[in-house]
Amino acid sequence: MRRSGLALYGEELRAAAAGGPLGGLRVRYSSGPAVTLDVSRWCGPLLPGDEGMLSRCAGPALDVGCGPGRLVRALAARGVPALGIDLEPAAVGLARARGASAVTCSVFAPVPRAGSWRVALLADVAVGIGGDPPALLRRVSSLLRSGGELVCELDPPGGGVVRVRARLEAETGEVSSWFPWAHVAADAVAGPAAAAGLQVHERWSEEGRWFAVLSAA
Ligand SMILES: C[S@@+](CC[C@H](N)C(=O)[O-])C[C@H]1O[C@@H](n2cnc3c(N)ncnc32)[C@H](O)[C@@H]1O
Repeated sequence: MRRSGLALYGEELRAAAAGGPLGGLRVRYSSGPAVTLDVSRWCGPLLPGDEGMLSRCAGPALDVGCGPGRLVRALAARGVPALGIDLEPAAVGLARARGASAVTCSVFAPVPRAGSWRVALLADVAVGIGGDPPALLRRVSSLLRSGGELVCELDPPGGGVVRVRARLEAETGEVSSWFPWAHVAADAVAGPAAAAGLQVHERWSEEGRWFAVLSAA
């Protein structure tokens, strides 16, 4: 039986966190290419470019698809109340083990303190969750309090908005089932934002990464 992408991802996260050998996990897009999924970057300390996102989190922050909780932990250390949510229990377990507050849940299911968050983070490739960027942005926006903002990481300009199917492939030959994902380029985010009732408040690039702050239109 095929295992889910999340199961293969969870296993790789545990190996990375234990400092053990990684399984050479790759993500293949239906559009063709397969790229190495280096989960160890989510398991370590802050990454170059994280600072700009963190500095824009002024109030209670919800990190959507928090992975092992690097950003949640950093926010808490600065006195910013923060909670991570992630669908993968191994990610949440690692986040908690590192002292971050996190719960296992889907962003599309009931989320703790919905409607009270001042900021929501969609870091790294989390804006691709669900494969339908307007639907994700609308959902995350609904979790914010009035005047709240979304801080999103995006792809470099030029790639547009691309909906794909993806699957994970392990070196052992194990392959997950396909799941929907999406890519949103920095210069294309206004489209899905507008479809979700949002506007681009700010855009910046730092350390070769691209970001935007979205707020209610
Ligand atoms: C690229 S990883 C995020 C890494 C993390 N944001 C960081 O920067 O370290 C994407 C995360 O989204 C999570 N995810 C996927 N679908 C989700 C959903 N429906 N709700 C919440 N989290 C989800 C995955 O389990 C994964 O940990």
